[in-house]
Amino acid sequence: MLSTFFLLLFALVLGTLVVLLSWAVWSFWRHGAPFIPTDGPIADALLTHAQLQPTDRCVDLGCGHGAITLRAARQCADAVGVDIYWPVIAWARARARWWGVPARFIHGDLFMHDWRDRTVIFCYLFPGLMHRIANEIWPTLHPGTRLISHGFPLGSVPPTATHRHGRAIIFVYVR
Ligand SMILES: C[S@@+](CC[C@H](N)C(=O)[O-])C[C@H]1O[C@@H](n2cnc3c(N)ncnc32)[C@H](O)[C@@H]1O
Repeated sequence: MLSTFFLLLFALVLGTLVVLLSWAVWSFWRHGAPFIPTDGPIADALLTHAQLQPTDRCVDLGCGHGAITLRAARQCADAVGVDIYWPVIAWARARARWWGVPARFIHGDLFMHDWRDRTVIFCYLFPGLMHRIANEIWPTLHPGTRLISHGFPLGSVPPTATHRHGRAIIFVYVR
């Protein structure tokens, strides 16, 4: 009886791991960056290095469940998150409602939108997507716009500053 219970428990844990791993691999293959949330302290550091002002309009490109967007929304005039994977957008919207944070979340491809009205851009995306942002979005931004990237540089654009937080690296760019 006990061994059947442990066998079922083992099958359940293994099944969950297989589902999570397949989802991560599928997500990476499909979108070029799986959902890996930024830790709270790193998200706080991203906001600090962005030097957010109450008048800023922010976007979090590939926002996941809103770790960065929800924090930014408390400190700036307008914060929007965009993500191509709808379950994380539903999760982010639920979190915004739960905490009463005035963040907006868009389900869709970040490259299908015009971000010229943004003064601060946050990213935590893999190199292929960062190269596309460097080529397709960065040149369209107004002078003075700040782009803060967790983990990965903005293609070959030279960073204005870089900061280390433990094992994480934060790249700051000022257009
Ligand atoms: C590494 S996660 C970062 C999540 C969040 N920004 C954070 O730091 O917690 C990358 C996210 O980018 C999203 N993504 C990948 N390609 C995208 C695209 N073309 N348009 C919008 N979102 C995209 C993925 O679905 C994933 O949730």
